[in-house]
Amino acid sequence: MAQPSLYQQVLDPAHRADPYPIYAELRKTPVTREDDGTYVVSTYNELFALLHDPRVSSDPRNRPGAAGATAKPDQGQDGLPLSFINHDPPDHDRLRELAMRPFGPPCTPGRIDGMRPWLAEITTGLIDKFAGKNQVDIVDDFAYPLPVTAICQLLGVPLEDQPRFHQWADGLIETLDPATGTYEQRANKRAEVQAELGQYFSGLVDARARQPGDDLISGLLTDHGPHAPMSREDVLATAGLLLVAGHETTVNLITNGMLTLLRHPGVLDRLNHEPALVITLVEELLRYEPPVQMRTNRAAAADINIAGTTIPKGSPLALMLAAGNRDPSRFADPDRFDPGRTDNAHLSFFGGIHYCFGAPLARTEAQVALQELARRLVNPRLVADPPPYRPNPELRGPRHLLIEHDAVAPARQEAGQAACPGTAGQ
Ligand code: HEM
Repeated sequence: MAQPSLYQQVLDPAHRADPYPIYAELRKTPVTREDDGTYVVSTYNELFALLHDPRVSSDPRNRPGAAGATAKPDQGQDGLPLSFINHDPPDHDRLRELAMRPFGPPCTPGRIDGMRPWLAEITTGLIDKFAGKNQVDIVDDFAYPLPVTAICQLLGVPLEDQPRFHQWADGLIETLDPATGTYEQRANKRAEVQAELGQYFSGLVDARARQPGDDLISGLLTDHGPHAPMSREDVLATAGLLLVAGHETTVNLITNGMLTLLRHPGVLDRLNHEPALVITLVEELLRYEPPVQMRTNRAAAADINIAGTTIPKGSPLALMLAAGNRDPSRFADPDRFDPGRTDNAHLSFFGGIHYCFGAPLARTEAQVALQELARRLVNPRLVADPPPYRPNPELRGPRHLLIEHDAVAPARQEAGQAACPGTAGQ
């Protein structure tokens, strides 16, 4: 039997706990071609160039033969239309700009920062529940509920609908895992889940159109700026995108963060005594254990010459962000976790026009979460190392992270009084 390629080894769940030695091997050849025609890119400079290259397309219709290639730009009806993550300019830029207006600066500068006290309150409530238990699961008991609650709050989704959201988001995220089926099978599964999600958001959008609140969906529907308002179909697609994009990614950042801190107890202790460290620490976590390890949703829309290789038009790309983040030609001592690292232009939020829209929220959530875990857990320790991982190579993170602790320190005085965030600062 033929030896699996390095890329196939990365996809193999057996290597999920520590894919980094395989990435190091991959980097020896910056661009490699798989038998199925996929070009795998693993070095920082080449990745950086492609992230900013207008010939790299996010539109599934530019991947000949792929199931998504037949998707219509506004399929609507029983599903969600393509959201802006799957569009190229000019549609991408127009929709992203519209979505940005009720989300962040310059039109809504206070939205995410205004969520900080409220996030602290949710965090406090979750950690309070650890008291009296000798074992907790950082994933199920903490890292999962926090971002889901946050994204539901942002979108104006009622809390009682959250369990259904978990199922839909899980279903969609599973379809990103190349190990769960062919591209076609995964696209079909994705369409099924999207149909249910589309129906749900349809009801929510109608309700907000009748009676707007101060949530993001209402903001999109009532915007009066240039090109506004967003069409109803695009509001549906954007809501679905934000739900999924802001879900598993942040779960993994918080969980990978706690795992890394427990493997570096000196840093955990330092964070407790030096809370301001959390800013550079979260950036270093993003570099060192990226929640999104790779993107496999791109294709070359023209022939591209890079690192002595010509990637032919139509070829699928595998952009190995996590490999680039540990490229020794860009980062000093890249396999070392250095919480004070300042020269840290990691690729974890991507780059160029598709740079992560939710990065300010993800950073805020992780900062609040890790600061509080470091402050309140007395003598926390891992139950198993490595923990069990989800099979997904793209959105990589532990399935569970069991920890033990001796006690839970009291919550801060001011916690528990935060109002729900609205459009503060608008
Ligand atoms: C640690 C957490 C997160 C990580 C590591 C992350 C990473 C990424 C990456 C790598 C991309 C580029 C995807 C692509 O173009 O194929 C992306 C795009 C995106 N992210 Fe995030 N993300 C995180 C959290 C969030 C959150 C909390 C939200 C929502 C509030 C969000 C919303 C988005 C959106 C809407 C895009 C599409 C941007 C565009 O196409 O212009 N992300 N993110």
